[in-house]
Amino acid sequence: MKKTALTKSSARRAPVKTLVSAAIMVLGASAANIALAEAASQKLTSPSGEISLEFYLTDKGQPAYRTRFHNKPVIGESLLGLDFRKAPDLLENFSIIEVHSRSADSTWEQPWGEERYIRDHFNEMVVQLQEKSPKARALNLVFRAYDDGIAFRYQVPAQSHLDKVEILDEATEFNLLENMSTWWTPALAGEKYEYLTQNTPLDQVELVHTPLTMKGKSDLAIAIHEAALKDYATMNLSGDGTRLKAALVPIHKDNPVKVETSAPFASPWRTVQIAEKETDLITSYLALNLNEPNKLGDVSWVQPGKYVGIWWELHLEKGTWNQGPKHGATTENTKKYIDFAAANGFDGVLVEGWNEGWDGEWYNHGGAAFNFTKAYPDYDVDAVTEYAAKKGVYIIGHHETGSETDNYERQLEDAYDFLQKHGMKAVKTGYVESGELLTNGNYHHGQKFVQHAEKVTKVAAAHKVMVVAHETVKDTGERRTYPNLISREVARGQEYDAWAKDGGNPPDHTTIIPFTRLLAGPMDFTPGTFDITLPSRPDNQVNTTLAKQLALYVVVYSPVQMASDLPENYAKYPDAFQFIKDVAVDWETTRVLSGEIGEHIAIARQTRDSEDWFVGAVTDEKAREVAVDLSFLNKDLSYTATIYRDGEKADYRSNPEDYVIETRKVKAGDTVRAQLAPGGGMAISLLANEH
Ligand code: NOJ
Repeated sequence: MKKTALTKSSARRAPVKTLVSAAIMVLGASAANIALAEAASQKLTSPSGEISLEFYLTDKGQPAYRTRFHNKPVIGESLLGLDFRKAPDLLENFSIIEVHSRSADSTWEQPWGEERYIRDHFNEMVVQLQEKSPKARALNLVFRAYDDGIAFRYQVPAQSHLDKVEILDEATEFNLLENMSTWWTPALAGEKYEYLTQNTPLDQVELVHTPLTMKGKSDLAIAIHEAALKDYATMNLSGDGTRLKAALVPIHKDNPVKVETSAPFASPWRTVQIAEKETDLITSYLALNLNEPNKLGDVSWVQPGKYVGIWWELHLEKGTWNQGPKHGATTENTKKYIDFAAANGFDGVLVEGWNEGWDGEWYNHGGAAFNFTKAYPDYDVDAVTEYAAKKGVYIIGHHETGSETDNYERQLEDAYDFLQKHGMKAVKTGYVESGELLTNGNYHHGQKFVQHAEKVTKVAAAHKVMVVAHETVKDTGERRTYPNLISREVARGQEYDAWAKDGGNPPDHTTIIPFTRLLAGPMDFTPGTFDITLPSRPDNQVNTTLAKQLALYVVVYSPVQMASDLPENYAKYPDAFQFIKDVAVDWETTRVLSGEIGEHIAIARQTRDSEDWFVGAVTDEKAREVAVDLSFLNKDLSYTATIYRDGEKADYRSNPEDYVIETRKVKAGDTVRAQLAPGGGMAISLLANEH
């Protein structure tokens, strides 16, 4: 960092240059080193000046910040600090030693993603604090202001009076100044991240997950989350009136410590996305910008794709994971799926229940029985591998661990070696177990599990395997650093529709998660059910129309998308199945066309390296009209639009499979109008015509 003597205000107005090329470049950087009067408050503004943050010390010398948006306060005095076990806390009695400022403006390219080029444009302020006590311990706070929000992290430098630490708590607060409408799922409540979202005023929030999305009276939208969660505890939030406080997840059930570490260390970034309206939260890539760049080098082997598999038939109880007359993962059944994948252009075939370990109570402390290199006798791995290769598809391996992370870690190298040797380019991992603990007593998203998840990702990368992680820790943007961590579940996916006692995901679920869970990153939601009424599950059904199932491929972003239904159900609706075959999974850009949390949302995405676009629009349980303005299309081209919409009589409860497909020529500026049925949706493919 350059050290130039600047005034405080000129430090904030660092040069900002415009990007001309899309290549990765760092263009503007300036720095300042300012000696400060103790009482002074330090200001940081976003490049556009719309968001500002003020840092200061309270009367007790405790660090605090507040934030304004459009010059109105949105976060009031919020305290900061770290609470240690067996050592004095880093909380109060500080003075400001120095403040360094810099600005940066660069654009980087995602190897795959919902947006190809991401601009990383921020002003930063590093506040160096020192205790006034004789030990004079040091704590740095790093703040960044972006045009789409703020972020900050604790940095504890190497120093003589601080080495090993046990963090009991973070004093971090987010003091919202309005009793905002809040969408939340409960944390540490028994089902990990798999809850339907509640919507209440902020002052009813107790202990919740992030991203936590809030909406103010004037449409102001705020989402609190974290970025670059690495070797640290997950941050939940606990509510007290309209004040939220960081609540770190403990390491182990018998130990109140949240993080064991030693100086130097840094916490994950605490992020606050701030937008004029909720739809802008979706195209904010703050958390990705705060993660370290790709550490894997050439990741051309990481490829988005679509898959089918031996999966839905298990959830429908037509087949079993365990051995027996209905065992799903047989050589013969897998070959059937391989044929289906090859005939319809799918890349992968997921096979669950292929390995030893499923015959006992694997979901109830039985995970130690899982063996990740031994197949059941009716699953001939070599034959399946050869057959898949001949047909040009790959098998997606499956590692259900039953939350027995120790058993999994013991086998990790061998397990990934096995996948690589058998051409399995991807693996789906799973950590089923009721409650919030792993079988070794560690908390599911405590520091040890965060370490475990990173270890798995790295071992997978070393074997060139992509990971689709279920029941793992929430996404905080690690895909930037490890692009092989391609998708995860971490919310209620479509599987709940097959068996949940509450009747499955209600129609508004998919009008909420784009504004909440999906702000964190891609989700393996597994849409694509065509046999909506689930005859083999009389108490359940999928609570959407068939057209909405198609729209979900665009609305719920994932670079790996499953066509989850059985081949025979796709055979009944070949014209609708065409959309699943056509829809892209890797995007040049994403536009949110309209949306209101919990009501409706419409998203358009442009296929990477192509002029083609796809649109998905979904509604909650209410019928509504949608008008898709096609002004995003290239004005110099004409397009063939294929519109998959609800039929006149469609209704997710009584007539979900009523749909209409229309094809017509369209151009930029045209509008596609349709009536969405209750629980309905519309999908459009817009293929550019040759000219
Ligand atoms: C839960 C996962 O979400 C699901 O997809 C999988 O089939 C089961 N666990 C079994 O591993």
